[in-house]
Amino acid sequence: MNADGRTRLNETPEWTALARHREELGDVRLRELFAADPGRGSGYTMRVGDLYVDYSKQLVTDETLRLLRELAARADVFGLRDAMFRGERINTTEDRAVLHTALRSSRDAVVEVDGENVVPGVHAVLDKMADFAERVRSGEWTGHTGKRIRNVVNVGIGGSDLGPAMAYEALRAYTDRDLTVRFVSNVDGADLHEAVRDLDAAETLFVIASKTFTTIETITNATSARDWLLTELKAGQDAVAKHFVALSTNAGKVSEFGIDTANMFEFWDWVGGRYSFDSAIGLSLMVAVGPERFREMLEGFRLVDEHFRTAPAEANVPLLLGLLGVWYGNFFGAQSHAVLPYSHYLSKFTAYLQQLDMESNGKSVDRDGNPVDWQTGPVVWGTPGTNGQHAYYQLIHQGTKLIPADFIGFAEPVADLQPGLVAQHDLLMANFFAQTQALAFGKTAEEVRAEGAPEELVPHKTFRGNRPTTTILARALTPSVLGQLIALYEHKVFVQGAIWNIDSFDQWGVELGKVLAKRVEPALTEGAEVPGLDASTKALVAAYRELRGR
Ligand code: F6P
Repeated sequence: MNADGRTRLNETPEWTALARHREELGDVRLRELFAADPGRGSGYTMRVGDLYVDYSKQLVTDETLRLLRELAARADVFGLRDAMFRGERINTTEDRAVLHTALRSSRDAVVEVDGENVVPGVHAVLDKMADFAERVRSGEWTGHTGKRIRNVVNVGIGGSDLGPAMAYEALRAYTDRDLTVRFVSNVDGADLHEAVRDLDAAETLFVIASKTFTTIETITNATSARDWLLTELKAGQDAVAKHFVALSTNAGKVSEFGIDTANMFEFWDWVGGRYSFDSAIGLSLMVAVGPERFREMLEGFRLVDEHFRTAPAEANVPLLLGLLGVWYGNFFGAQSHAVLPYSHYLSKFTAYLQQLDMESNGKSVDRDGNPVDWQTGPVVWGTPGTNGQHAYYQLIHQGTKLIPADFIGFAEPVADLQPGLVAQHDLLMANFFAQTQALAFGKTAEEVRAEGAPEELVPHKTFRGNRPTTTILARALTPSVLGQLIALYEHKVFVQGAIWNIDSFDQWGVELGKVLAKRVEPALTEGAEVPGLDASTKALVAAYRELRGR
């Protein structure tokens, strides 16, 4: 019981019932569950939009799912969901509404924040972005010297980088191949150096993406980018106007930096950084794929938003995915969750999800500030198949850790590949299906013996199986499908945060490092005495200065 008299999550009857159920299931085998229910393979599936979601290879029964849904009802997941969609200030520690869903609402929708409909503003910015994107794509927008823009460099970090960078890779097949689009995020000067070293400054547009316009990495890189541009062009400050645009909520800081606010694309404090990708933060992507494709992507987001908002609990896919994560994290002790896309174009998808999930649900106090004594967000990791198969899948198959995984695959390749490469797609997908099969059903000692393996190798070649996976399958990785996938994970993260009773929309944990970096920097550069520096950091700073010859 909390001090305020409210029952804690892990003392609710719903939690206790799940713990009991987990014990009763014991070492339940997926082989047994499939043997007992021949319809399981097609029955334990759901559809949302273009996504076919198979959860038959999860260690769950109808009873498990029923009990998990009861936990969701107890936590009032749908109540909080409705409050989010209504624009209530559910980000309580920052006293903000959480309205990324308004970014993809239709023109005629009404979503109010403090009595004001925000939808017209959202569409005004989307229209301004579309106009700008078309001008760059058509060559109408030229640089300071009159040359057409051929290179776009997005400078941002975290939510102001990962979304557009991920989506640019994901939708590469839809991009204007005559444009070079790059993403600079790291304050390590090497990042900017490598991004611009072979570019003609006269043809380069910098898109400075920062919600706050105070993030040190972004402002430092933006300043260096401006220096590079002006040096290369041998031009004065007036050249900035045609080569720099800003994506931000902070007009004051944007103009302080020297960017004309006419070239600023705004968004609002009710858009969290890691949820900002379909706001103005998507501008680089829109330039790359064009406004129409961008809108198709937003429609994909909207489709899943509507599903999450209206589908009953039994058929609600984000709810299901969220609950499965709770099942393994809280009742099996799983510490991590792998997301394994079988699409080269989704090479940055899991990195994007890392911020979405881990910055949202990496919390250890509840919404009222009480320490939680249940596990919250998992470590999210993974890389595209089949590469991972030849690296870390061994541990997923035969290691001592339980690692639930999502497999994401597509029936068709996207790009205009040569016929020979198109044929490779079946091999890719054969691996996709084979892996989830092997993970679920393993290989028994009898099967190994039947293959003639010498007795001493039998334990090594036996696969226990029972490694749970969800399979998400779609026809092709279109802009809409990408939007659907991202919205699916956004809402899954929401469901988990709601159940764990944490604020999924703040990120106080990243602040401490920022503050300390500012304090330590003078010690590195000037050898300044930093009060309160611990002995270890002091010695490291001294070693660093010696190595740098200072
Ligand atoms: O990492 C902390 C964070 O605040 C993220 O949430 C955000 O996406 C990122 O920094 C970048 O912030 P900004 O867009 O304000 O530069």
